[in-house]
Amino acid sequence: MTVIESIITMQKEAEALRSAGRRIGFVPTMGYLHEGHLDLIRLARKHADVVVMSIFVNPTQFAAGEDLERYPRNFERDRTLAAEAGCDIIFAPSAGEMYPADDSSWISVEELGSALEGAFRPTHFRGVTTVVGKLFNIVRPHYAVFGQKDAQQAAIIRRMTRDLHFGIDILVAPIRREIDGLAMSSRNTYLSDQERKEALALSRSLRTAETLFAQGERRSHALYRAVEEELTRSETVQVDYIGIVDPDSFLPIEGDVGPRTLIAVAARVGSTRLIDNTILGDEATPS
Ligand code: PAF
Repeated sequence: MTVIESIITMQKEAEALRSAGRRIGFVPTMGYLHEGHLDLIRLARKHADVVVMSIFVNPTQFAAGEDLERYPRNFERDRTLAAEAGCDIIFAPSAGEMYPADDSSWISVEELGSALEGAFRPTHFRGVTTVVGKLFNIVRPHYAVFGQKDAQQAAIIRRMTRDLHFGIDILVAPIRREIDGLAMSSRNTYLSDQERKEALALSRSLRTAETLFAQGERRSHALYRAVEEELTRSETVQVDYIGIVDPDSFLPIEGDVGPRTLIAVAARVGSTRLIDNTILGDEATPS
């Protein structure tokens, strides 16, 4: 496995691969890899001849006061895990090269980016779409793989890719969970033992909604209340939002939910902010 740090070297490598007819699969990450990231590499491998993973803690998607400085990093561990999972190239650029001092261009997906996560983190998605757009222009992939855990991010990237004619197939891998149901996240490392237990409220609340849905409950407000009740059982868990939305438009569903409805939750457990979601009626959703 090769590690490339310079943008021009990555671009030349991508050009050479494309000229040789190789299909490039791309997995953008911020590092501190867990099994969820490794699933993304494995999915990319199924579609592509060469898998490139980027590791870049993107400063523009963190607002002032968020966890940019303390975001966990361990490049050597990431390098080993990525190679074992079948990654061919790690692209690890510097912030200085990704964002030159007078950088002033942004990509912003307007409507999808202002709902749910966007309402709580107003500059977050603009940072994500801008860096992913830059990475797409550097890595020139045929496929790019994102995780369903960041469902809104995946929908926004899909929309950006279509709107800006990037010509890349966006693939989404299911949420990878710990044995007790907690969705895997690099931020789980912030949780104390007690908070780790309390954090299970997120996945439990979604399982409750899935069970009700399987039993025939279709009223959006009833599903909302059941999720809310589960989430607010513990005083340590502070709910940011519960969204019952269309999984493509992220528009809220009032009245009865249809066969494909996304329930997305965000909550703070102590000082750690966690998100999770499920698509009701989706048999691929792992429980
Ligand atoms: O999901 C993430 O880890 C990040 O938002 C991404 C897509 C790598 C962009 O920095």
